[in-house]
Amino acid sequence: MGTIKIHDKNFKKSISEEEILKRVEAIAREIEKDCKYQNPLFLPVLNGSFMFTSDLMKEITMNCELQFVKVKSYTGMHSTEKVQTLIGADMSVSGRTVIIIEDIVDTGGTIKELVNQLQQFNPNDIKICSLLFKPSKYKGDLKVDYCGFEIPDDFVIGYGLDYDGLGRNLRQIYTVTE
Ligand code: IMP
Repeated sequence: MGTIKIHDKNFKKSISEEEILKRVEAIAREIEKDCKYQNPLFLPVLNGSFMFTSDLMKEITMNCELQFVKVKSYTGMHSTEKVQTLIGADMSVSGRTVIIIEDIVDTGGTIKELVNQLQQFNPNDIKICSLLFKPSKYKGDLKVDYCGFEIPDDFVIGYGLDYDGLGRNLRQIYTVTE
């Protein structure tokens, strides 16, 4: 399935399942190298990171904990930079190495807000892990510690990412063609 139509837009396959899984495994190795014996707390951001999180966790062999969190920052095809309150994180963050798992970092508004809100729970360290990163859109100054793929400023779907609710179930990443 090289091209697909979702709502009014056409998309073409841009990152294969094989490429994704290879990078996911490499990221897991990097995280284990940095955080072994720290029992890190993974905080995957719903909804977009569910598939990435599932594959990443299968590759992690060290002790770790996981707690899904939720914020809302995006509708349709344009980032609004409007971020709502963080839901799901609690006191278990205190003193921990926390690893935020995102599907994509675009302007960086979401992770900035997340990191700000997490600071109130006094973590020891906060790291950012994102499958995709759009460097040309990024306005933040936080480092993306673990990144799967740097991509151009094009709208993408699949592997957890959606276009108005559709496309999350696709096993590959697709890029809009117009
Ligand atoms: P940021 O706050 O601008 O970095 O946007 C991050 C959020 O916007 C992500 O967690 C996604 O939900 C959404 N987003 C950004 N770019 C895309 C895209 O190309 N496709 C689908 N969702 C996107």
